[in-house]
Amino acid sequence: MQKDQSFIEIIEEYVESDKITLPPFDKTALRIQQEIQKKDVKLSRIEKLIIADPAMSSQVLKLANSSFFRGLSKVMTVRESIIRLGLDEITRMVMILSQKKLYTTKNSFIRNYRNILWQHALVCALVSQWVAREAGFEETTQEVFFASLMHDIGKLFLITVIEKIKISKEAAFMPSKTVINEIINSQHTRQGYNLLKKWNLPDQYCQVTKKHHDKKFDNANVPLIILRLVNKTCNKIGVSIEARNDAANSVTAEANFFGFSEIKLAELELQIEDSVKRVSSHYNIGKSVRKG
Ligand SMILES: [Fe+2]
Ligand SMILES: [Fe+2]
Repeated sequence: MQKDQSFIEIIEEYVESDKITLPPFDKTALRIQQEIQKKDVKLSRIEKLIIADPAMSSQVLKLANSSFFRGLSKVMTVRESIIRLGLDEITRMVMILSQKKLYTTKNSFIRNYRNILWQHALVCALVSQWVAREAGFEETTQEVFFASLMHDIGKLFLITVIEKIKISKEAAFMPSKTVINEIINSQHTRQGYNLLKKWNLPDQYCQVTKKHHDKKFDNANVPLIILRLVNKTCNKIGVSIEARNDAANSVTAEANFFGFSEIKLAELELQIEDSVKRVSSHYNIGKSVRKG
């Protein structure tokens, strides 16, 4: 490291040297994602994939027996869990569980940042599905869920890099939270895109990550437009790490694309608020999120 390097240059050096990578994309999650997109989805195939992953199996069982299903009989097998939760919910859960691992840290410096990021990703994913249904794109809900869950993965990657730089003491001093946020906001779409490409995820997901903050959107990419609408609304009402910025958070173009009225947009805000509560109770996620 050279003495007069800027903080951004140190980050770039870390990224390019491959000193830091996020763990590879969870194989079980990826295979289930591929399986669910087939026309004849086989429950037995999904069951096999989950059983082959003991950690995933135990979490699926735990969820099927969670307080949400209190009053129903205890389920003992992965198959019974799939039947209780349904294939769509199981797929969502597998994605959520595989992604959640990436967001946990022992480092208090970034723990709250990661928690807010995780809550934002999850709420965007759940509410994007609602928008897909309301806008008449029911058939895209799985794709929309996954694309939205991953859209800010570049932020997670960058905060991991910054955490490592802090531990290594390679930077002369650590910039303020505001500066760190600025760096992450300006770099995360590019870094996220590179990461998803590295993970060999389908291009439609990579594009959503890459283009979700572009000034204009591609009319042919429905998951992208849905995520933009939800993401900006989350930012506007504070379910996000991003600063509120009314001009940047205008949803007029996206709302017009789907023919969403003011009333529908108000419903969307309610859906977001509702999901924040839901991810805390049902998924037991985000309880530790503190603002600021
Ligand atoms: Fe973003
Ligand atoms: Fe976002």
